Amino acid sequence: MILVTGGTGYIGSHSVIELHNEGYDVLIVDNFVNSSPSVLKHLKTITGVDFNFLQVDLCDYEQLKDATKNYSIEGVIHFAAFKSVGESVDLPLKYYNNNIQSLTNVLKLCEEREISNIVFSSSCTVYGNPESIPVTESTPIGKAESPYGKTKVFSEEILKDFHKSSSKTICNLRYFNPIGAHESGLLGDYPDGKPNNLLPFVTQVAAGLREKLSVFGDDYNTKDGSCIRDYIHVVDLAKAHVNAIDYNKRNRKLYSVFNIGTGVGVSVFELLSTFEKVNKTPVKFEISKRRSGDVGAIYADCQNAAKKLNWKAKLNLEDMLSSAWNFQKKN
Ligand code: WQD
Repeated sequence: MILVTGGTGYIGSHSVIELHNEGYDVLIVDNFVNSSPSVLKHLKTITGVDFNFLQVDLCDYEQLKDATKNYSIEGVIHFAAFKSVGESVDLPLKYYNNNIQSLTNVLKLCEEREISNIVFSSSCTVYGNPESIPVTESTPIGKAESPYGKTKVFSEEILKDFHKSSSKTICNLRYFNPIGAHESGLLGDYPDGKPNNLLPFVTQVAAGLREKLSVFGDDYNTKDGSCIRDYIHVVDLAKAHVNAIDYNKRNRKLYSVFNIGTGVGVSVFELLSTFEKVNKTPVKFEISKRRSGDVGAIYADCQNAAKKLNWKAKLNLEDMLSSAWNFQKKN
């Protein structure tokens, strides 16, 4: 059984489906702070399975330990964390407490329960503003500017120290920009309130829920002046987690890091024009000032994941944008 923390969240819920599809039993632990109980219903509609679920605050170790004591857990995928760059600047202590405490509690459980297959959800934000792109796993990290990004840098340091002391098998996945939704339109990126991320904001404008998108700057040193990112379909990202669990089984006691992206840089303007083309829906936007903390361009070198994880992104930008629009229309 694989314990999936944050398993009713955006990436967690898509990963539960892919784990199920590969024959894994799953135990979901979540506290619904950034997700909804309805996701469990959607997961059952999609897979036919009533997944084992525990509503637990991961910052309460005794609660976590007690709730999971009757489950035989062979591995853990740790998604649960707050992830808004903007909010983390305003509420750093909320981010440091939640993201670090939940990680150390999960690792303590792995130590006590002798769980030695661990997959961690990190982020390209650890690279900060890279000297050169595409970034590889050996590109220096630690220049994250937001407290959110710093929690990922600190988490990676904690994982490395824990690996040294425990010889647990740990696979650290650095995500680029996850977007898109499950083909059913039942699961997707459904942020509370005003979206921080680009695509949920775009789909809400396209749906007439918001007047227009602010493009945060068109004066970057890029092909069209707007920021470049490596957008990856959430289903491709989810599949990478199954590969990571399997990779750990073949590489006991190893600490590994992989960039999980497409290797393709896409600008904000390219994303907007592709969205309008593939969904035949206009998106009103205005140019506004740069958002502090944004980097001009970052995208991944994913050769390591292709070689060692036997994983490559298969879905393209049009798949990502049509699936996101389908989700928006259904919700
Ligand atoms: C993408 C581009 C914005 C909103 C962050 C985290 C990363 C991951 C994804 C968790 C940027 C521009 C955005 C808007 C805009 N988080 N933009 N108007 O900042 O690259 O990455 O979210 O997994 O860890 O760092 O993603 O979607 O916020 O922004 O112009 O209203 O869209 O400037 O260039 P980001 P994003």
